[in-house]
Amino acid sequence: MSDKQWSAMMLGDESYAGASSYYKLKEAIKDITGFDYFLPTHQGRAAENVLFSVLVKEGDIVPGNAHFDTTKGHIEFRKAKAVDCPMVIASDTISWHPFKGNIDTKKLEDVLTKNPSDKISCIMITVTNNSSGGQPVSMANIRETRKLADKYGVKLFLDSARFAENAYFIKMREEGYANKDIKDIAREMFSYADGMTMSSKKDAIVNMGGFIGFRDEELFRKASTYNIIYEGFITYGGMSGRDMNALAQGLYEGTDYSYLESRINQVAHLGTKIKEYGIPVLEPFGGHAIFIDAKKFLPGIPKEEFPAQTLAIELYIEGGVRGVEIGALMADRNPDTRENRYPDLEMVRIAIPRRVYTNNHMDYVAAAVRNVFDRRAKIQRGLRILREAPIMRHFTVELERL
Ligand SMILES: Cc1ncc(COP(=O)(O)O)c(C=O)c1O
Repeated sequence: MSDKQWSAMMLGDESYAGASSYYKLKEAIKDITGFDYFLPTHQGRAAENVLFSVLVKEGDIVPGNAHFDTTKGHIEFRKAKAVDCPMVIASDTISWHPFKGNIDTKKLEDVLTKNPSDKISCIMITVTNNSSGGQPVSMANIRETRKLADKYGVKLFLDSARFAENAYFIKMREEGYANKDIKDIAREMFSYADGMTMSSKKDAIVNMGGFIGFRDEELFRKASTYNIIYEGFITYGGMSGRDMNALAQGLYEGTDYSYLESRINQVAHLGTKIKEYGIPVLEPFGGHAIFIDAKKFLPGIPKEEFPAQTLAIELYIEGGVRGVEIGALMADRNPDTRENRYPDLEMVRIAIPRRVYTNNHMDYVAAAVRNVFDRRAKIQRGLRILREAPIMRHFTVELERL
């Protein structure tokens, strides 16, 4: 966090209800997102839990561009279906497309026509699209999804963890936005949605926190009951006053153009280095992370032996670099058949914390990846699961080397 965020913490108001920190955050959220109503939560998945307690019931369907793992977990935990509608090009790691994170509106409309609107809890668009490589979603795509939401009478929510990075990409890549301010672009993105969930540790640059934004007062009131059950009273929801102050400040800093430019360029610096070494990476580079194509990196390891997880472990042993598998382990088992799901993309994500590292650190990470690449022929077997949880297994799975 910045000096301004740390100093804002010193002014935190820790009154139980109606703290000035709550009102400060409310004002910042209104200013940045345009939403009149909000509920603070202790982190992003808590926001999902509260929102889905109102919206999602057994047998429902939640279509999206590609649900994040905790989002999918909360949907499947309620015996509903999380349906990803990514574009075909999203699983092509090489071809360039400015907005690989877009929802495929034809696939979405197919879901909407085949199911009654009371079975669709909401449409959820994740900006940027984490599961498909930190890829952005265009304004045109969000606008078109809004039209479909209206046509079929369903709600549209944005999973907004990286909304500011998404706005940056819109500014850089979408016609008509080059001269617009990041905050104006973000507000336009949110203007098409009925609400949002936020993991504040991402684009609001805080250590902990989340929130839900709502346009509709009635939905906000319904969700308030669940916030009180799961999180805390509606004016703190699991956050202390000092954390709300840091978050309010962070929302402004996270939407600052110069900050975003240096952040996204640092990610690209790492991607360029790794690519120069001939290592297969997902392109264009994502906003928050570089994704290594594990299927191409370790082609001899079958999908049943989790090549991306194998690579993540090798990278940790090599350089102490903690990447994460975005592949079959994260995709979890099919809740009905209990079979493993094998997504098209089997990746290792190297996500870069904000304002922590220099480009020299990036060079070190790239060198560690290259060292593993140089000895890849010796990595001939993958992993076997020893123990796994029934849902969201990748957080705690225990594995054994084969
Ligand atoms: C797109 C997205 N949604 C939701 C979450 C969940 O947020 P949290 O980790 O704050 O619970 C994350 C976290 O990484 C995320 O990337």
